[in-house]
Amino acid sequence: MEAKKRFYITTPIYYPSDKLHIGHTYCTVATDAMARYKRLTGCEVMFLTGTDEHGQKIEDKAREAGITPQQFVDNIVTGDRGILDLWKLMNISNDRFIRTTDAYHVTAIQKIFRKMYDNGDIYKGTYKGKYCKPCESFWTESQLVDGKCPDCGREVQDAEEEAYFFRLSKYADKVQHLLEDTDFLEPRSRVNEMVNNFIKPGLEDLCVSRTSFTWGIPVDFDPGHVVYVWVDALSNYITALGYGNDQYHDYETFWPADVHFVGKEIVRFHSIIWPAMLMSLGEPLPKKVFGHGWLLLDGGKMSKSKGNVVDPYILAEMFGVDALRFFLLRTFPFGSDGNFSNEALIQTINVDLANDLGNLLSRTVSMVGKYFGGTLPQGSGASQAEQALAAAVAGNADASGSLSGEGCQFDGELIGLAAGLRSRYEDAMEHFAFQNALTEIFKVIGRANKYIDENAPWVLAKDMEANGSRLAHVMYNLLETLRICAILLTPFIPTSAAEVLRQIGACEACSTWESAAAWGSLSGTVTVQRGDNLFPRIDTDKALEQLEAAAEAARKAALPGLGIEPQLEEKVDFDTFCKSDFRAVKVKACEAVKKSAKLLKFTLDDGTGVDRQILSGIAMWYKPEELVGKTLMAIVNLPPRKMMGQESQGMLISAVHTEKGEEALNLIMLDDKIPAGAKMC
Ligand code: ME8
Ligand code: MG
Repeated sequence: MEAKKRFYITTPIYYPSDKLHIGHTYCTVATDAMARYKRLTGCEVMFLTGTDEHGQKIEDKAREAGITPQQFVDNIVTGDRGILDLWKLMNISNDRFIRTTDAYHVTAIQKIFRKMYDNGDIYKGTYKGKYCKPCESFWTESQLVDGKCPDCGREVQDAEEEAYFFRLSKYADKVQHLLEDTDFLEPRSRVNEMVNNFIKPGLEDLCVSRTSFTWGIPVDFDPGHVVYVWVDALSNYITALGYGNDQYHDYETFWPADVHFVGKEIVRFHSIIWPAMLMSLGEPLPKKVFGHGWLLLDGGKMSKSKGNVVDPYILAEMFGVDALRFFLLRTFPFGSDGNFSNEALIQTINVDLANDLGNLLSRTVSMVGKYFGGTLPQGSGASQAEQALAAAVAGNADASGSLSGEGCQFDGELIGLAAGLRSRYEDAMEHFAFQNALTEIFKVIGRANKYIDENAPWVLAKDMEANGSRLAHVMYNLLETLRICAILLTPFIPTSAAEVLRQIGACEACSTWESAAAWGSLSGTVTVQRGDNLFPRIDTDKALEQLEAAAEAARKAALPGLGIEPQLEEKVDFDTFCKSDFRAVKVKACEAVKKSAKLLKFTLDDGTGVDRQILSGIAMWYKPEELVGKTLMAIVNLPPRKMMGQESQGMLISAVHTEKGEEALNLIMLDDKIPAGAKMC
């Protein structure tokens, strides 16, 4: 028997300094779709993902949180709603998960480092940089902010640190050749960037050890040095197969990798440093690195520090895992950046999944139920002419069908399009063009929906004696089309595609990759199984509102204990803002409002010569007498309103926050030099 083809694919290993967002999910879903596609085509697949857990940032974050770095990463990787939970939720089918804190990886890295040292590619030198004395921190030139310490903003001094270096410069020519003269790096547009920005200006040797922090893998022959985090991280792709360790024994089987999927900002590490390291180790190079684009939010990168990350948990819970997976790969071309929006997500679900696919399935299955009691009669299946046509098309994606007989023009078009689908899809998938693969599928789904209208089954059904067999054949063609589409959708929406196959009564043999190119696989007397509506239509306005509320709650939950209100993302235009009349006011008198626990009544000098009365709900925090004589800030052009029977002509401005879980208010006090009536702007 012929040996199975093997396919080894990886995602970047994630940095567990924060919870993952939709951008991280994007790459892993894409990798998962690719891995599932390769399994579908019969390959033996190794799909690796994991976490990259060392480095100064993790050490710092753990210190801030008052826990050890190991506890910190454990929490984000294995904790509730951590990375492992997320991949489980998203139905990620990785075969292996590596953590760079795993003991086998640690010893393997020490061996790798020593091997490069022994062969002369790693040497000891001095790392020149800047030092901030008060912070005891070593910085590189590029880490400085305006030439000052990025932590405290103070002056820094020249400093030197003993460090190991990797002879990256030695491999510059070989790497340039690899990039320019082979298909190693894709999309090709990323090649110029690498060569022009990094190689041509001169590749410098790379600093590969640090002594200023300890959360890393120690250099075993020189304690005090820890291995540079990228040397540690990149090597995961081979240590996870068993290179340099006895935990696994798959290196011979799966290395070199078929493809590393990576985000565009880390293409440099994967296409320059990683090949050079492997050259130094004398190991084969991966066959390909593919640099995908970013998911942007409002045109910018998502980042925790900007507070604009999108939580995949919220989306998956609201819309379903398959819908989210589908959206990510259907909407954005994999090699380019794309703008994420909730509106686009909902629209894709409604148009493609609810309308086109969902309706095709539910209409077809319910018509087979209504007209044939759920089972097609003898003779409904594909004719020999149709099978011959399909076979011809499947062999040549450009061939288009023609048949003779009643209704045959439409049959020929549909069968021709569906029979050639697998080959067009395969072509796109082999180029990681997920969006194109899905576009091809949805062209066929669209054609099938049109085929229903062309054949008007409800008209045929009026005279079953005359048209019954034609009607059955129309139903059969729809089921066959759904079958082929569902097989090819499996890598993208595994659960839903399986449900489509179940509802149309597809057996195991007619759910395979081979059968996706063979028209007529489904039995001519197939029995359908009605099921739930796969993708209910989403009410856009309601969903957007719910998402906004969920995001708001998440933002609040993520705030530190102070309980500061999150800033509104909605902007107010300048003219509108200017209409708000804020004034300095002086408290002439202040008293509690009877029968109210909250309200104080203020008599204020607002500079007009006429007293202004304002009621304010701050009795819990101030005694009236302590406020007399103070200069406060008020908005004076709000419409007057009655509170406890008294009129309030404006509002006093306070700072709102939470103290020990309770809301707290502090009136904004102005300098008493400011005269009553002064306008604030
Ligand atoms: O870079 N859109 O880890 P990481 C698309 N540990 N992709 C995004 C994204 C977005 N908005 N945000 C992040 C690291 N990513 C290293 C990798 S590999 C040996 C070590 C992608 O957690 C990003 O491009 O910062 C990267 O490929 C991946 O998420 C992991 O990012
Ligand atoms: Mg990163």
